[in-house]
Amino acid sequence: MVQSESRTVTESKSSIMELMEPEHANVHGNVQGGKIMKMVDQVAYIAASRHALSNVVTASADRFDFLSPVFVGNVVHAMASVNYTGTSSMEIGVRVEAQCLNSGKIVHVNSAYLTFVALDEKDNPKKVPKIIPETNEEKRRYEEAKVRKENRLKVQKKRSPSAPCMTRLQNTPFPYKRDVD
Ligand SMILES: CC(C)(COP(=O)(O)OP(=O)(O)OC[C@H]1O[C@@H](n2cnc3c(N)ncnc32)[C@H](O)[C@@H]1OP(=O)(O)O)[C@@H](O)C(=O)NCCC(=O)NCCS
Repeated sequence: MVQSESRTVTESKSSIMELMEPEHANVHGNVQGGKIMKMVDQVAYIAASRHALSNVVTASADRFDFLSPVFVGNVVHAMASVNYTGTSSMEIGVRVEAQCLNSGKIVHVNSAYLTFVALDEKDNPKKVPKIIPETNEEKRRYEEAKVRKENRLKVQKKRSPSAPCMTRLQNTPFPYKRDVD
């Protein structure tokens, strides 16, 4: 795919669905919050990557409220879309729903906003294509996300001066050469 200057929300809209199994739960059968958080990070990563078409990392997540419990046997559906783009950052909105496979009932479990930053081969922030909100809902989300970004800027911390180490997985399917000093 050719890198373009801008991209619509639809082009990177993403979702994942997973059946909750005993390994995801505590001894009472309640699915652990961390399992849902991982799905949120994963689907947000997919949407951010499909928008930026480069390496992206999670810079922050605003907050996680769990609005309903999830149990073993439920199907969890996590949906993500790019709400807003800055220069190198993207706000990704994620909605999580759980469905009971006996009744078909669907409940809202979590909504979260995560910021991903696109990185170049040297792990420095790089420019992302601008997001084009098309529908009224996308335009509303864009405007609301813009305000959230301004508020985040007042509180966000600066990057640590160095990483613990720079060990890379060998033979990863990255479409570009990683050149780490
Ligand atoms: C995210 C990271 C790249 C930002 O680096 P930085 O040197 O602070 O970058 P800058 O100050 O140039 O900011 C780059 C962008 O990130 C945004 N940003 C930085 N920290 C942020 C935070 N905590 N929350 C939200 N956005 C943040 C900035 O607003 C800026 O956005 P813009 O380019 O759209 O204006 C850096 O902190 C990092 O690599 N962190 C580790 C990320 C990671 O590995 N996550 C997985 C956890 S193991």
